[in-house]
This record gives sequence, structure tokens and C-alpha cells, in this order.
Amino acid sequence: MKRAVISDIHGNLAAFESVLADIRRQGIDEIYCLGDIIGYGPDPRACLALAKSFPVNLLGNHEEAVLFGAIGFNPKAKRAIEWTRDQLSLKTEPQEKNRELWNFIGSLPKEHREGKFLFVHGSPRDPTREYIFKQDFQDRKKMDEIFASPPDMTWQVCFAGHTHHPGIFAQDHPYAFLEPHEIGHEFEYASTKTRILVNVGSVGQPRDGDWRASFVVLDDQKIRFVRLDYDVQRTIRRFRDCPDLPEYLAKRLEEGK
Ligand SMILES: [Fe+2]
Repeated sequence: MKRAVISDIHGNLAAFESVLADIRRQGIDEIYCLGDIIGYGPDPRACLALAKSFPVNLLGNHEEAVLFGAIGFNPKAKRAIEWTRDQLSLKTEPQEKNRELWNFIGSLPKEHREGKFLFVHGSPRDPTREYIFKQDFQDRKKMDEIFASPPDMTWQVCFAGHTHHPGIFAQDHPYAFLEPHEIGHEFEYASTKTRILVNVGSVGQPRDGDWRASFVVLDDQKIRFVRLDYDVQRTIRRFRDCPDLPEYLAKRLEEGK
């Protein structure tokens, strides 16, 4: 069975639609989404409506911020959270529709376990908020603690998003960070005993210097990293309809930063 694992759409509808079309073209059965469907981008309602039918959706820190307050967010991100919250309660939309969106966000779990797979937004230790940056592979203590979390589960493959930087943390040298291009964009997990934490990258706001949408395809043997062109100018034009969103959030999309 083939599954797509996606994350961090951030209200970027053009990127999301392109990714969904590509997933359909590849004949992939299911989509798992690791959170941050909203926040930053100009189309939170449409992105939530598209994600709603996925069999797995997790709570990201931006959904958490919309629900409970933007604690620890920088001023630009905070402004986008406040704007997003208003968008979900638009007076011009049927109240029933608004309620559905809020109920969906409010029902999101923090993690999903499935056999040897663990799915989180941030990290196994703090599933919604903790960042695992690529240079963290050198922080032995942090990596040991992350690979030992959660205490009641030993996973073989953990999937996360949150940093918007795709790649694999491997527990074998003792730790390494493998950029997708260093491994031919593929990793065979089924035939190795190495435990890996896979960052799937971001659909709607990549930050690894490549502006294209990122996600992974998981089958019974391997994980494959995908990068996909989309109409980034369409999203940038949408930002112009939303003057309350900081312009910087549109500009960074072209640079992938
Ligand atoms: Fe995010």
C-alpha cells in the first residue's frame, strides 16, 4: 500500500492543490497530514475543507495557537494567527460552516501510532511544539531523548514536520542527518535495523532554500521524497487580497526560506 505523508500546508491553496493532484496521479491510496494546515497563508478555510477527509490529521502548533493562543510566536506569525482565527469565524459564512471548521481543529490528536510507525507534528518528546533542526543530529543528548520517546513505544520510523526542512535523522553513526539529495531522494527502511526520524518537509512554506512543495511517499519498503512545482505566483496574488497578513510571508515563498 502507498501512502502520502504531508505536513505544514499553512493556508497555501495553490501548493496544496498541486500536491493533491500529484498524489492522485500516482494512484496513492491514503494521505496522512501532520498538522499546520493553517497559519501564515491566505486560504485557511479552503485548506481545512480539503484536509478534512484524510484518514489521519494531527494537531500542529498553528492549530494549537488558533485554539489556545499564540504563545512563543514571533510578531508576524502572531498577526497571521489572529487573522486566521478571524477567518474561521467570518460573519459572511454560514455559522454551521464555521462551527464545522472549529470542531475539526478542536478534534485533532497530537500523535498517531500504527505498528512500527509514529506520526507527530514536532517531535516524539513534545509532539506539537518541539523543533528538531538538522544540526541537532550532533546533539547526542537531545537525539537520545527524542529516540527514547514516548516512553511507552519503540518506533522504527517516526514521521514529523514543523521545521519545514525535509530529511532523515538516522540512529546509526550514532546519529546522522541525511538530506534527500544525498540519498537519491529514497530510503529503504524495511531492510535496515536503523531507526529513522523522517521530516517530510512542508507543502506550503518550504524553508530549505527550495521553494517547491515537499512531501513523502511511504510504501512497504521505502520512503521517497517528492518536490513539486506549483503556481507560487497564484498564492502571492492571494496575499494581496489579505492586507492584514504581513507581506514578508508572501515574499519568503519564492525563496523557500
Ligand atoms: Fe509549520
